Amino acid sequence: MSQPALKIDGRAIAKRLKKSLSNQVQTLRDEHRCVPCLAVVLVGQDPASSIYVAHKIKACERVGIRSLCHRLDASTEQAELMEVIDTLNSDPEVDGILVQLPLPAQLDAAAVTQAVRADKDVDGFSESNLGALLGGANNLVACTPQGIMHMLKETVEELGESLSGKHAVVIGRSVTVGRPMAILLLQANCTVTICHSRTPDTAAHTRRADVVIAAAGRPELVRSDWIKPGAIVIDVGIHRRDDGSLCGDVHWPEVSARAGALSPVPGGVGPMTIAQLLANTVDACRKRRGLSR
Ligand SMILES: NC(=O)c1ccc[n+]([C@@H]2O[C@H](COP(=O)([O-])OP(=O)(O)OC[C@H]3O[C@@H](n4cnc5c(N)ncnc54)[C@H](OP(=O)(O)O)[C@@H]3O)[C@@H](O)[C@H]2O)c1
Repeated sequence: MSQPALKIDGRAIAKRLKKSLSNQVQTLRDEHRCVPCLAVVLVGQDPASSIYVAHKIKACERVGIRSLCHRLDASTEQAELMEVIDTLNSDPEVDGILVQLPLPAQLDAAAVTQAVRADKDVDGFSESNLGALLGGANNLVACTPQGIMHMLKETVEELGESLSGKHAVVIGRSVTVGRPMAILLLQANCTVTICHSRTPDTAAHTRRADVVIAAAGRPELVRSDWIKPGAIVIDVGIHRRDDGSLCGDVHWPEVSARAGALSPVPGGVGPMTIAQLLANTVDACRKRRGLSR
């Protein structure tokens, strides 16, 4: 009988990253008298967004990052939101700006994202930072793919392997997850295939993959016969079932019996995304102030 997959414990990896960040924040405080500061902008009362923002603020507090939360009414107009972004862009105390998405329908999310100064764009969604990633400069990189890379590197190390030369398949081509993920894997010398909704037979690609990143936003899409025995599988999707429980894009019972390593939902990519947001804020703080540590 084959071994069950190694469970990639995102909570534990994120905890180690946050411990290291907490030490880095302490150094910034002691040696440079500066405290990294993240400004979060929340428009409206979407319950899921409010929960995500509360988690991010709490995570900041735990590592010693200062946080500011700007809560705006759901009826906020574009000009008013742009004014808030402008103020945060020019505030010397603010190192990172995060606009919680989705925004209410009357607002142009793309314009708001692009209005955030590149050196404070801790979400890594600005064209400038996406372009830098493509050019290999990796300024501030989107938190989910960057957090996944951290997770993958620890996992291959634990397995005594290397990412270099592996065939990686990314399911999904969104600007925030799939595309930057593919570029990061390419930078790690993987051979990368990107699948999307028009790919005729995604399973034919994943079956040959050493690494599968499932970011399609489709509950339990990836089944056992999609996976090569022993492959490393990262589940990015997060979905609430009718009974209130959570699942990902991967069918856990089937795939965990076939993969070599698999990240769970919850407790996989989610904690890494938040930890990476903190890492990006500390990084932005250092870069903006020209500090090396
Ligand atoms: N845990 C976290 O921190 C975290 C962070 C971000 C996102 N997520 C989750 O990750 C998932 C993906 O997020 P996203 O923002 O990238 O979603 P998205 O913008 O909806 O993109 C989904 C991508 O998957 C592709 N796709 C859809 N159905 C497919 C199928 N049957 N086969 C192959 N490809 C398919 C789409 O193709 P087309 O381009 O052709 O439409 C699209 O490129 C969501 O469940 C989201 O909630 C989790």
